[in-house]
Amino acid sequence: MLTNLQQQPADALLALIKLHNADPRPSKIDLGVGVYRTGQGDTPVFSAIKAAEKILLETQESKAYLGPEGDMGFVEALKPYIFGQHSAPVAAGRIDGMQAPGGTGALRLAFAMAKRAGIQRFWMGTPSWPNHAQIFADLGCELKTFAHNTAEGVADMPALRAAIAAAEPGDAILLHGCCHNPTGIDYTPAEWDEIAQLIPARGLLPILDLAYQGLGQGWEEDAYGVRQVLNAVPEALIAYSCDKNFGLYRDRVGAVYVMMAEATQLPAAMSNGHALARASWSQPPDHGAAAVRVVLEDVGLTRRWLDELDCMRARMRQIREELGRSGKVGGVDLTAIAEQNGLFSIIPFTPEQVQAMRDRHGIYFAGSGRINIAGLTLGNIDTFLAAVKDVTG
Ligand SMILES: Cc1ncc(COP(=O)(O)O)c(C=O)c1O
Repeated sequence: MLTNLQQQPADALLALIKLHNADPRPSKIDLGVGVYRTGQGDTPVFSAIKAAEKILLETQESKAYLGPEGDMGFVEALKPYIFGQHSAPVAAGRIDGMQAPGGTGALRLAFAMAKRAGIQRFWMGTPSWPNHAQIFADLGCELKTFAHNTAEGVADMPALRAAIAAAEPGDAILLHGCCHNPTGIDYTPAEWDEIAQLIPARGLLPILDLAYQGLGQGWEEDAYGVRQVLNAVPEALIAYSCDKNFGLYRDRVGAVYVMMAEATQLPAAMSNGHALARASWSQPPDHGAAAVRVVLEDVGLTRRWLDELDCMRARMRQIREELGRSGKVGGVDLTAIAEQNGLFSIIPFTPEQVQAMRDRHGIYFAGSGRINIAGLTLGNIDTFLAAVKDVTG
């Protein structure tokens, strides 16, 4: 019977890691895998997290089950950081949440809750993080797509407006809160203001994916869109990841938040989240979320974590500015990269050029032309630019 299972394509990014590892050239560069790297090419544990882990090791007295909602201290501690100190929906008791295994687990719960609520169609700009479409497909959701960006490297607002107009009231729309993966192209504050008006006017449910808060323009700036939308709509789902902004990738730290029109409607909605989690992973992994809670409960550790995050963001902005300053390199224009945000940007390489970057120069990135900005350093950026010139010139 199990022979009915057909071979599935290998994950392209994981295959790329293997190719990069097998390349003997010392000058090789990995711009594929989506993790932050320092100027030395490392992905270290935040010192604030190390300190929190030590505290946990010494003080945690039990590892007994917490329940499908996970560590609610963690979920509550994050709220002012995500929604702001003076959030009207939080003050009105309209937002509740639960822990989830990473942003991926949070998205899966959010989509599944929306589907359980009877939502038939989901709208999403493309390109998007490939796992979005995979989760929708796995849950049997109908997915409608529209162009996220234009060839000039800005958000395609006409396409978004047209998609919202074409959607039926009661459809859901997935939006990246900041640091769009894979394009790095975010909506401007003025565009978010418009989106926040369009979504409720059409009666859509927003699902907001916030996986990189603090890695774009700044902690508060990166939450602008999410907060504007939440102030304008009656209901929303928010999928949050701490895996990048606390450097906890493999510890799988995330949360899903639900906003309802009335506080009294929350318990029923959340009970569905709990039931779905129970039937999926029963309880989320504890360690990373507990470490985040310890950081957020301690003023000194919070300061240390935010300082570390500021350094990460500053390094990526510096690399973006360097790339943007290079302007036209060979046959591609890198200027717009300076204005984009987060770990990723797309360079419009042809498939042959992607292959030539690998073969001739040992520079590895996804076939879509998505590069991880944090894979570049002041030490290897000239090598990268020379290679771009060589393959596209
Ligand atoms: C846009 C987006 N959302 C969600 C996630 C999920 O992150 P994780 O499951 O690692 O927390 C990612 C990861 O790359 C992402 O790029």
